[in-house]
Amino acid sequence: MEPVLVVDGIEKSFGGLKVTDKVSFSMFPGDLTAIIGPNGAGKTTLFNILTGHLAPDAGSIRFEGKEIAGARTQDIVTMGMGRAFQITSIFPEETVLDNVRVACLSKLREATVFIRPISAHKRATDRAYQILESLGLEKFSDRRAFELSHGDQKLLDIGIALALEPKLLLLDEPTSGMSPEERLLTRELIKKLWSLFNLTLLFIEHDMDMVFGIALKVLVLQQGALLVEGTPEEIRSNPEVITAYLGEEL
Ligand SMILES: Nc1ncnc2c1ncn2[C@@H]1O[C@H](COP(=O)(O)OP(=O)(O)O)[C@@H](O)[C@H]1O
Ligand SMILES: [Mg+2]
Repeated sequence: MEPVLVVDGIEKSFGGLKVTDKVSFSMFPGDLTAIIGPNGAGKTTLFNILTGHLAPDAGSIRFEGKEIAGARTQDIVTMGMGRAFQITSIFPEETVLDNVRVACLSKLREATVFIRPISAHKRATDRAYQILESLGLEKFSDRRAFELSHGDQKLLDIGIALALEPKLLLLDEPTSGMSPEERLLTRELIKKLWSLFNLTLLFIEHDMDMVFGIALKVLVLQQGALLVEGTPEEIRSNPEVITAYLGEEL
């Protein structure tokens, strides 16, 4: 199986501070991988480098076999890297349905240039409803996006990302700011979406129930460097990880 993503020796400093220190790892189709580590470990910076929001100082990132280190965000998104849960892609004045449908339509047009406009529209509408249903948002289809609660806007953002059929989906702390009940629902939802849409998913998370509840692989970042990677069981019982990070958590 070919890897979706190969990160090799990525480095980044801000001033004198090294925030990404020779990070290397790979993602394969169907992976469900969590990145954990203390605040300031460089997790979000790593995502920003993967998505082209920051250029690395050194190292290589191959996405679907192509080098993308330092490439523009828009080009990386077009190649199939998605990032969601931060309400950054929503058009607030448009309806919930149209937010997802426009993304479905753009994906369909890209895939099938010969398709007739009317049937493309029908297919995009069906697909948008399927996505909204999977997120429990179909009842809000005709509402304008800004009318949704904060939590539901986060879901809509993931709906837009799913509509683009990402080859790799990145989530930065999907449960941050949520109540324990919302966390549990989100954890179940993410597992369901991963399975339903055959996702390859990389998520940053502080909630250890979520990490150890759903991740198949865990990467531990510490001071910008990858301390260790392994299965949840390996990470839980790793003495270095327990000392550095999990001590109080487990
Ligand atoms: N644009 C920036 N300029 C300077 N320092 C930054 C910038 N972004 C992040 N940092 C610093 O990089 C380190 C890692 O931050 P971040 O990647 O946000 O960590 P995490 O997401 O793991 O909490 C922190 O010390 C942070 O202050
Ligand atoms: Mg962060």
